[in-house]
Amino acid sequence: MRFVVKYTEYTLFSCLLLFINGGTNMQEKKNYYITTPIYYPSDNLHIGHAYTTVAADCMARFKRMQGCDVFYLTGTDEHGQKIERAAREKGMEPIVYVDGIVKNIRELWQALLISNNDFIRTTQERHEKVVQKIFQKVYEQGDIFKSEYQGWYCTPCETFFTERQLKDGKCPDCGREVEVLKEESYFFKMDKYAPRLLEYIEQHPHFIQPESRKNEVLSFIKSGLDDLCVSRTSFRWGVPVPFDDKHVVYVWFDALINYLSAIGYGEESQDSNFRYWPADVHLIGKDILRFHAIIWPIMLMAMDLPLPKQVFGHGWMLLDGSKMSKSKGNVIDPLILVQKYGVDAVRYYLLKEMSFGQDGLYSEEMLATRINADLANDLGNLISRTVAMIIKYFGGVIPETREAAALDEEMQASAGQAYAEATEKLEKLDFSAYLIATSRLVSRANKYIDETAPWLLAKNDGQQGRLAAVMYNLLECIRIALILTAPTMPTLMERANKQLGLWVQGEEVKWEDAGIWGMTRAETQVAKGESLFPRIDIKTLREDEPVEEIKEVKTSAPVEKAETEKPEVKDEYISIEDFAKIDLRVAEVISCEKMEKADKLLILRVKLGEEERTVVSGIAKHYAPEDLVGKKVVVVANLKPTKLRGVMSYGMILAASDDQYVDALTVTKDIASGNRVK
Ligand code: MSP
Repeated sequence: MRFVVKYTEYTLFSCLLLFINGGTNMQEKKNYYITTPIYYPSDNLHIGHAYTTVAADCMARFKRMQGCDVFYLTGTDEHGQKIERAAREKGMEPIVYVDGIVKNIRELWQALLISNNDFIRTTQERHEKVVQKIFQKVYEQGDIFKSEYQGWYCTPCETFFTERQLKDGKCPDCGREVEVLKEESYFFKMDKYAPRLLEYIEQHPHFIQPESRKNEVLSFIKSGLDDLCVSRTSFRWGVPVPFDDKHVVYVWFDALINYLSAIGYGEESQDSNFRYWPADVHLIGKDILRFHAIIWPIMLMAMDLPLPKQVFGHGWMLLDGSKMSKSKGNVIDPLILVQKYGVDAVRYYLLKEMSFGQDGLYSEEMLATRINADLANDLGNLISRTVAMIIKYFGGVIPETREAAALDEEMQASAGQAYAEATEKLEKLDFSAYLIATSRLVSRANKYIDETAPWLLAKNDGQQGRLAAVMYNLLECIRIALILTAPTMPTLMERANKQLGLWVQGEEVKWEDAGIWGMTRAETQVAKGESLFPRIDIKTLREDEPVEEIKEVKTSAPVEKAETEKPEVKDEYISIEDFAKIDLRVAEVISCEKMEKADKLLILRVKLGEEERTVVSGIAKHYAPEDLVGKKVVVVANLKPTKLRGVMSYGMILAASDDQYVDALTVTKDIASGNRVK
């Protein structure tokens, strides 16, 4: 990646060949094809859609930095009854209506610096002709046939359901009213391919990710696949069936084909974009997993094409515990957030906040807390302190005579670990873990400043060499952290470089540079600059809520008393069954930060086996956040979730205390997180 390059739509990354081994060995770039779902332009998009698109963008940028030939595709799914109705309600022709929304979507992606190589619209001729070609082919080979359909149709979901599938007579997915539809239709023989698909899924353990979603798909296939109704006669806004124009193609059959039409299916040649097939990842929300992990692979089998390497179904971004959705009206406009907080910060928040494949809770306060803690306090401060010290002690250029010490090796090892971990986690699309790995390096570097106390070294002339080494090591950590965060925060490297002078204009910055220690040039000249992440005043955001005191369990008191705070305890014994109701678990602290303007509270991110959760704890006066990271504490895992100063807490940390001390209970042997404490 060149940090000066701005990716725009249709900007295919230039060089086609990658020279390795000093140019003696010429090797073709590895292709990497990543897609987002194509969004319905029935209304403007919200932060949930932005999550998918930013996550895919982070992968695309990461892969480009690794030297891959990346094709990143997004677009819009413009046909179907839902869009037709939305347009008619506004008294508009569907195409005029969607044109307006698509314009907004493109502007949103520009504001979020999405580096897609193409933007496919299903109303484009290049797409429609491919849909018709495929429909015709599958019909001619006998996998599509004509019959009559009667079923329940949910228009917002564009999905048919059988009577049995309905929930209380309503749509099982969105809970809205369904309507009976009876029509002559074309059907796609899905069941014919079910055994092949089952075998494929079993033999390709990475095909459906995360792992937890695979079983859901497998049991759905095993329960038997009905023939899929792939045409409609009840409305006109769709691609006409090529040999029977009373019918339009079912919107999902039409939409899924975008992944092929955008890369030129049917016009394959050596240098066509069809070389990118099969896609490396279809990144989607878990809501549309079945379409991508069942219908789409079967369509591809019918077309005799290889299947995508992976379908990754991420969790939902929830607002007040329910899914954000345009039709529910509880949406957050990402454009406003970008204007308010800047693109780097918004992208960072989105990727850090949602744990691997799980749902995440959106709150503007959490966004602001995250920006203040990780970006303003940790990363921003590390950069501004280092720049200020290099200017103060050495006039902006670090002397070449540097004196190493044992601590430096530890620092260097932490950087190596951050690189290895960030790479491994990103390869798995585990965005939050990748950013936790980079945050850990930044925290380690800040701690290194405290440990080496440069202000004391500066007082002693004999320590100039040591001081120079400390400054150099700090610059190295910053350089590495900036490379590692570049796929997430596309403008940061360039903004920070104005102060740091680490890279010259136009220099190619590769991902693997972050794995090499010592690339900072001796002549690097730093200069003072603006704050990279201005702090946000949380007070202006905070809801007017009472602060709940956190109760520590005092070891000297019976458990029941601490749990229920009964004024009079008649019988101080509890039964073993009572005790068993409390789900105590070993939890590993993976990150921890102080809550803004709440001097007692820490926000901890803890791991309980596979699961991650946030716990707010009132022990901030007794622990610095970094003291807890890596520790295994004991949490009450089944405590009712509660909101503390606007942050949801899912559990309580046990701590012993007296008037003077608070001591969080920790597990000192190598017992894995998630294990029960009893
Ligand atoms: N048009 C179909 C997709 C066809 S792909 C061949 C569709 N469109 S959609 O606009 O309704 O939503 C698409 C995707 O947006 C979801 O699968 C998901 O990736 C993302 N999200 C929508 N709401 C979301 C959240 N609240 N949270 C996270 N992602 C969300 O379905």
